[in-house]
Amino acid sequence: MVGRLNQLLADSISIRDMYKKHHWQVSGPTFYQLHLLFDKHFDEQVGMVDTIAERIQLLGGVSIAMGGDVAEISQIQPPPRGREEVPVQISPLLQAHKIIMQQCHDIAEAADKAGDDGTNDMVVSDILRPNELQSWFHRPAPRRDAPRLPQITTHTHPTPGRPRAAGRLLLCDRTPFCM
Ligand SMILES: [Fe+2]
Repeated sequence: MVGRLNQLLADSISIRDMYKKHHWQVSGPTFYQLHLLFDKHFDEQVGMVDTIAERIQLLGGVSIAMGGDVAEISQIQPPPRGREEVPVQISPLLQAHKIIMQQCHDIAEAADKAGDDGTNDMVVSDILRPNELQSWFHRPAPRRDAPRLPQITTHTHPTPGRPRAAGRLLLCDRTPFCM
């Protein structure tokens, strides 16, 4: 259990640091919102890292802590040192959340079998759920055709009985929807 939790710890430290990197380096028209969001997620990951590390200590293990050890163990591909465009920042974050959430499922199952309810509860309530929520913020918008809205035009009042152009909503100065 301690080994699995140290893996989860290393990957949580990695995603925590990715969030701070992106908080600092984000740019473009969505800078302000993403700058704040990335830092919020960083702060939440700080809490999760602490929770996992202290659980490891409580179980009698030794938590990994230093960057070199994290780099050796983590399954999360480190991002390049330089600045990245927003879509290039977000895609690896989603991948990292996926890795962490799968580990949470595996640890919860193993903890359940071992009768370790404390670890089971911790990975589900304190790690899995917040990671689900964080990744929800970065999900791509569903791809679907934009709804076809009627074309709105203004016009002078037509001769009564004149047929309306198909698919066009005409705003009339006499009635809201002139036919
Ligand atoms: Fe900051």
